[in-house]
Amino acid sequence: MMRIVLARSSRSGRLSLLVSAIILGGLAMSSGAGTVAASQATPSAGATPAAAASITSEPFGDVEGQGVDLYTLTNASGMEVKIMTYGGIVQSIRVPDRDGQLANVALGFATLEEYVAGNPYFGCIVGRYGNRIARGTFNLGGTTYRLALNNGENTLHGGEKGFDKFVWGATRVPDVQNGVALKLSRVSPDGEENYPGTMMVDVTYTLTDTDELQIDYHATTDKATIVNLTNHTYFNLAGEGSGTVANQQLQLNASTYTPVDDTLIPTGEIAPVAGTPFDFTTATAIGDRIRDGSSEQIIFGRGYDHNFVLDRPSPDDRSMVVAGTVTDPESGRTMEIRTTEPGIQFYSGNFLDGTIAGPSGKVYRQGDAFALETQHFPDSPNQPTFPSTVLQPDQEYSSTTVYAFSTS
Ligand code: GLA
Repeated sequence: MMRIVLARSSRSGRLSLLVSAIILGGLAMSSGAGTVAASQATPSAGATPAAAASITSEPFGDVEGQGVDLYTLTNASGMEVKIMTYGGIVQSIRVPDRDGQLANVALGFATLEEYVAGNPYFGCIVGRYGNRIARGTFNLGGTTYRLALNNGENTLHGGEKGFDKFVWGATRVPDVQNGVALKLSRVSPDGEENYPGTMMVDVTYTLTDTDELQIDYHATTDKATIVNLTNHTYFNLAGEGSGTVANQQLQLNASTYTPVDDTLIPTGEIAPVAGTPFDFTTATAIGDRIRDGSSEQIIFGRGYDHNFVLDRPSPDDRSMVVAGTVTDPESGRTMEIRTTEPGIQFYSGNFLDGTIAGPSGKVYRQGDAFALETQHFPDSPNQPTFPSTVLQPDQEYSSTTVYAFSTS
């Protein structure tokens, strides 16, 4: 089956043709309730062949009277990802190390109650606008919009009740080649958190049999609005709760980044990383330069909390590029990030302060995880030189990010 999607780019206004070919593989529907299994799956090289890829679901509690389900996606080689309908949260990602030992590399909580009581954005879908908007204000078509100030004088991650705090609808995607997929969707009403326009949003998580977690985001609106969607998984490739990520090696294909003021709003400058602690163009341990007291930027962020500008052939290129790679030398687990987005927020878990514990009972402290959030740049609605985050009613927002796991 060939599916052709005509989409107007939300960035440049150019009509772009997105052609996605879905070749139907042999698909077997299992008779077990709540399970879809893909047959003819190819286990990844070196992995122990397991059962066919599958999706199962179980009730995970209630939020404001709405039932929440927890889906388990398992691929043919045994990698497993758990995703809940509350916030589209990735609760766990179990991947093998170089000896085939599985560990959960995503920080999270054991129960829904803990997520609802105070989640520092573990695993969630972030929207309508990921990261910060200065003073919660932006202008669109001559109207000034004022958002909730939930991060000092600024708006962070959508506002008081962002996309991470809603229960999403969920459907299993049929006929997925080489894996399994779960599509989450919701309608964000006109005026929600003061953003204009009714927005139809869907986010599809695909777990491939080659150990990739792919996230496809789509949105449309009935009025001009702004949008910047991302996923906020906190990773520790040695396993959640195993301590600091300081020794994990990060490489980013970013020759420039967007420096910030002391409230973490970009100054507007696109600065070279060369000669600074922000140069990850060659693999460097996350902790190597994080105590560089001569870097005002590191002090403003309490570590890394910055948007890196991904190297692209041209500023408006939106092809899928490799954003970077993280490797844990101990376990050999490696994660490559690919994206269609222009930027990536590298956050070194600076606000984890030892007050919360994960599902294994271990407390999370500062630097025990990193996030790599693919995105348009923070505060773009107020930064005319940054790529636009405006979505018009005749456009379709579309964005893809892949977290690809392997071992070395
Ligand atoms: C983003 C922000 C950080 C922090 C985390 C969530 O990465 O840039 O400052 O708020 O989200 O804690």
